[in-house]
Amino acid sequence: MSFKGKHALVTGGSRGIGRGIALKLAESGARVAVHYYANEGAAKDTLERVRKHGADGFLVQADVSRVDDVRRMFGEVKQRFGTLDVFVANARPEAAKFYQKPMEITLEAWDHAMDSQAKAFLVGVREAAGLMGQGGRIVAITYAPGGQRGTWQPWVAMGSAKAALESLVRYFAVALAPRGITVNSVSPGLTDDSVLQSFGDAAVDIARKWHGSGWTPMGRMGTPADIGNAVAMLCSPEASWITGQRPPHPPAFGAPRETRGAPLCHAQTGGPEMAPHTPRRSEPPGKPGALLCVTPRPGAPKWPPKPPPFESLVTASPAMSGPKLPRPVNP
Ligand SMILES: NC(=O)c1ccc[n+]([C@@H]2O[C@H](COP(=O)([O-])OP(=O)(O)OC[C@H]3O[C@@H](n4cnc5c(N)ncnc54)[C@H](OP(=O)(O)O)[C@@H]3O)[C@@H](O)[C@H]2O)c1
Repeated sequence: MSFKGKHALVTGGSRGIGRGIALKLAESGARVAVHYYANEGAAKDTLERVRKHGADGFLVQADVSRVDDVRRMFGEVKQRFGTLDVFVANARPEAAKFYQKPMEITLEAWDHAMDSQAKAFLVGVREAAGLMGQGGRIVAITYAPGGQRGTWQPWVAMGSAKAALESLVRYFAVALAPRGITVNSVSPGLTDDSVLQSFGDAAVDIARKWHGSGWTPMGRMGTPADIGNAVAMLCSPEASWITGQRPPHPPAFGAPRETRGAPLCHAQTGGPEMAPHTPRRSEPPGKPGALLCVTPRPGAPKWPPKPPPFESLVTASPAMSGPKLPRPVNP
């Protein structure tokens, strides 16, 4: 897989999953525009690592919840790169800006989530398409389960915004298919070395143990590098016939035999909002609308392990107790 001579823009490339994606594309030869919002130091660090891979790029700042900023960002890409081959919409505002329950959420918080995801993607894809030739690649980083079950109540704005993003992916896939531009989404499960770290050590520890105890068939959380690999695959020339899709979570590829070929539900890949819905062993794999069952890894504790009180942990974490989140620091 080579991206030599290609130009990519990764929003939220300064840290977390966006950094993993930027580094993977750079490793394969792409020049990368590393977007950030406020954390210039982290963005510089990403760019330095991009250069260590022998690639190059530049930094671009923008608030993706503001249409003018999104347009300016693409203006800078045009000025610096001239063309664009890969656009990854990954940025997401800090949870404190939208983390409110359906009956309480302010319209400002709702708009912030929607503007930063759905509207930013609507405007961004149209700008990106103007810079892309035949064979362009667009990927949205979503969070599919959040919008499907409604169980993680304070996630209502972001869950709805991500659902809108996934819908837009399908509309744009059709609209841009005649030009050979593909549009797909990737929906990570809970990912290490990402926003998760801002919820505090206790939340990280619980999340790691939860996955290690069998909730993820591979026995671990995904990493930004894992998501980078998935995105890079979708952006490769060989993926030219894949569009309008959301591949199963990466751990699906290592799932036990009885779950292969069937879409993995989030209960298997881990997710805080599933806590109230523990799957039952009696539910047959693949039954429409049912949760799939996973055979525990040898030596794993009785499955399913008791889910942690993740939502309450997140809600009670220092990150959520004040109006301002502490700036997450990624190593
Ligand atoms: N982490 C997970 O477990 C997980 C699971 C499923 C889906 N996802 C999705 O994956 C994506 C990345 O998540 P992450 O955990 O890697 O996030 P993260 O570590 O919190 O990083 C967020 C990124 O978005 C940027 N950002 C914040 N507010 C912004 C704004 N208003 N305008 C533009 N950019 C802004 C940040 O820039 P600065 O560094 O400058 O602040 C940073 O680059 C998100 O779309 C998220 O919904 C994450």
